[in-house]
Amino acid sequence: MALTPILTANWDKPKSWTFDTYTATGGYQGLKKALKMAPDEVINIVKDSGLRGRGGAGFPTGLKWSFVPQNDGKPHYLVVNADESEPGACKDIPLMLANPHALVEGVIIASYAIRAKEAFIYIRGEVPHVIRRVSDAVEQAKANGLIGKNILGTDFSINIVVHAGAGAYICGEETALLDSLEGRRGQPRLKPPFPAVAGLYASPTVINNAETIAAVPVIVLNGADWHKSMGTEKSPGFKLFALSGHVERPGIYEAALGTPFSELLEYAGGVRKGHKLKFWIPGGSSVPMLTPEHVDIPMTYEDLQAAGTMLGTGTPMIFDETVSVVRAVSRWIEFYKHESCGKCTPCREGTGWMVGLLEKFEHGEGKHADLDLLHDISAQIAGRSFCALGDAAATPFPAAMKYFKDEFEQAETIAPHTVFPFEKSHKFETASVS
Ligand SMILES: Cc1cc2nc3c(=O)[nH]c(=O)nc-3n(C[C@H](O)[C@H](O)[C@H](O)COP(=O)(O)O)c2cc1C
Ligand code: SF4
Repeated sequence: MALTPILTANWDKPKSWTFDTYTATGGYQGLKKALKMAPDEVINIVKDSGLRGRGGAGFPTGLKWSFVPQNDGKPHYLVVNADESEPGACKDIPLMLANPHALVEGVIIASYAIRAKEAFIYIRGEVPHVIRRVSDAVEQAKANGLIGKNILGTDFSINIVVHAGAGAYICGEETALLDSLEGRRGQPRLKPPFPAVAGLYASPTVINNAETIAAVPVIVLNGADWHKSMGTEKSPGFKLFALSGHVERPGIYEAALGTPFSELLEYAGGVRKGHKLKFWIPGGSSVPMLTPEHVDIPMTYEDLQAAGTMLGTGTPMIFDETVSVVRAVSRWIEFYKHESCGKCTPCREGTGWMVGLLEKFEHGEGKHADLDLLHDISAQIAGRSFCALGDAAATPFPAAMKYFKDEFEQAETIAPHTVFPFEKSHKFETASVS
């Protein structure tokens, strides 16, 4: 396998983000090709290419587009999810900084395919430089007649709005994002109806991740077979892998899906000198951790699922032996507690309980009964929460216990028999030896 610089091909060029650099290397040719086809033909290319969503769940993109009802008389919307707030995920932001026109071109093509005249790019508010960069790219495309009324002499018109979020992880959840776009507090909606039927302003809406949409122009230009020539049958194509943590050269490495993690690790210069790999997470804190014995695993949706985890955002976090698993899990659950929107009880209450219990282990005060309770709470949150943030919060602890149980048990105060802590106190302080 080798690196496949496609979305990253021009990142080293001077001013890679400008309209001129983009068009000098084939930019906007995919759009010109798409506008000569019927919208359904564009959907079929994306369907046949096997492109899967890069926002975490890996849903087939062309299939999602085909769910939008046609001739329904309603406005259709395209919404790009560029909220990127998951701990460890850092691919959309560099992509938008270095190659914003790939996203803008993808937005125009996708809007044409789903018959949308209005598109929104929702970017997390903490990155004003990225918001400026994407807004400038939209203005440049507009000035060159690629956004607006009757673009390139066709009867297709499109307007693109760049919208800044306000710093809430939950607004990356697609329906919370829609509420936020509509000016409400960002909280997930009940599904069904799914956004493809009733999304933004109750109209058919496609929501896709920024990397997903940025991959569309080159797929339309080169065809479905070209895309399928990379990767595996179930995970075709190329991917931005963002490696962070204890490696020599953290950064974005674009490679075919199916590239073994060990190879990505080599591109990143390996684990930092003098240290060894302790654990790693394939794609954001919401997916279960793996260990050194899993390094040869191919980075595909199917292989990672078979190993009990997920590709997620494809942004591996690497941890060496200096990291306490207990402390890492504790920090992640604190994050989920802080970001829980509070709409449903298992997540709102459960994350708080977990933080309290994990703090005890961090301070060497954990008991065996606390481990049972942590398992119990995780099980009560997983599958019982209103949205996937709850499931994500329920993930790190059981995964850590699978491989690093001894680290939780090492606390000196662990006693062989303990009573259920809530019998005595809600503050987790008084679990005592029976
Ligand atoms: C709490 C939470 C946060 C999420 N954050 C993001 C995000 O920042 N970016 C993203 O693309 N998807 C995020 N997702 C997934 C979206 O709900 C949705 O599945 C995705 O945008 C669909 O795009 P795709 O089909 O192109 O992957 C998040 C989901 C949850 C539950
Ligand atoms: S799971 Fe958490 S974030 Fe999702 S709706 Fe419930 S409280 Fe809100």
